[in-house]
Amino acid sequence: MDFRKELASRTEYVNEVLDMFLPDEEGYQKTVFEAMNYSVHAGGKRIRPIFMMESAKLFGDFDYQLKPFMAAIEFVHTYSLVHDDLPAMDNDDYRRGQYTTHKKYGHSMGILAGDGLLNYAFETATAGVVGAKDKDRAAKALLVLGTKSGAYGMLGGQVVDVENTGKSVTKEQLDFIYEKKTSALIEASFMVGAIMAGASEDEVNIIERVARNIGLAFQIQDDILDVTSTTEVLGKPVLSDEKNEKTTYVTLYGVEKAREYVKKYTEEALELLDTFSQKNEFLKELIVSLISREK
Ligand code: IPE
Ligand code: IPE
Ligand code: MG
Ligand code: MG
Ligand code: MG
Repeated sequence: MDFRKELASRTEYVNEVLDMFLPDEEGYQKTVFEAMNYSVHAGGKRIRPIFMMESAKLFGDFDYQLKPFMAAIEFVHTYSLVHDDLPAMDNDDYRRGQYTTHKKYGHSMGILAGDGLLNYAFETATAGVVGAKDKDRAAKALLVLGTKSGAYGMLGGQVVDVENTGKSVTKEQLDFIYEKKTSALIEASFMVGAIMAGASEDEVNIIERVARNIGLAFQIQDDILDVTSTTEVLGKPVLSDEKNEKTTYVTLYGVEKAREYVKKYTEEALELLDTFSQKNEFLKELIVSLISREK
């Protein structure tokens, strides 16, 4: 298997799926559609929809019913980035290699485009439930998407993240922040894929734990890249965490030890994944590749 080629073809496929669902730029409110499309079109790794698709393949078939959910998770993720970059949050000017949405369209439109994307995610996913052949599975998937996005999930993590800016944070608090702000949407990706493919409740619980570990590793690597990479490579500002006086795995442990944590959480994810009799070699390689991701 040529991993790079396989990954590129999946990324391309996700981009096609996103284009199927993105709104037309028309009507008196067309500025908000432009700003929404601007932030999604900027690109990004599309790792969450890819995880969703590969999780579905692990447990059963990948079919058309998953597409609205793949789009929805990327819309929720993109909204979280648009708001994360706002002056009242991390106050960053670049994202995905271009001006952040508020920098390009103004603060009000940054807020509204984020809100627009969040709502549009649920319009898209709910239309997916209405059109699904297995409505019970799709309704369960919708509930997971909602819970993992909101105050019990990603948003809850962002709350504790911003509240503790400039303060000292324990590892327990930091792990809570990471499990919510980053793992939650990755958990949703895997769980929705699993549920739609007909996985059992036990399997969904295990895949949630796999995803939690992947999310922790993913956020720690993000912290490392914030101090070791460049804006050109990342497409977003480096040293954003220092600017905002964030406690991260890097400030708590240093880069070398943080790298060890990335490996440790990844290994835990892979061990759990190995407990399934079903296999997905591409997924395994993808998880391993993230240990040394450069963007
Ligand atoms: C960035 O997510 C925010 C974190 C949770 C670390 P990604 O690194 O997946 O960003 P994109 O989607 O590729 O831009
Ligand atoms: C953000 O964490 C996670 C989100 C829920 C958006 P960061 O603030 O570290 O993400 P980046 O570095 O801006 O992408
Ligand atoms: Mg942030
Ligand atoms: Mg940020
Ligand atoms: Mg970061």
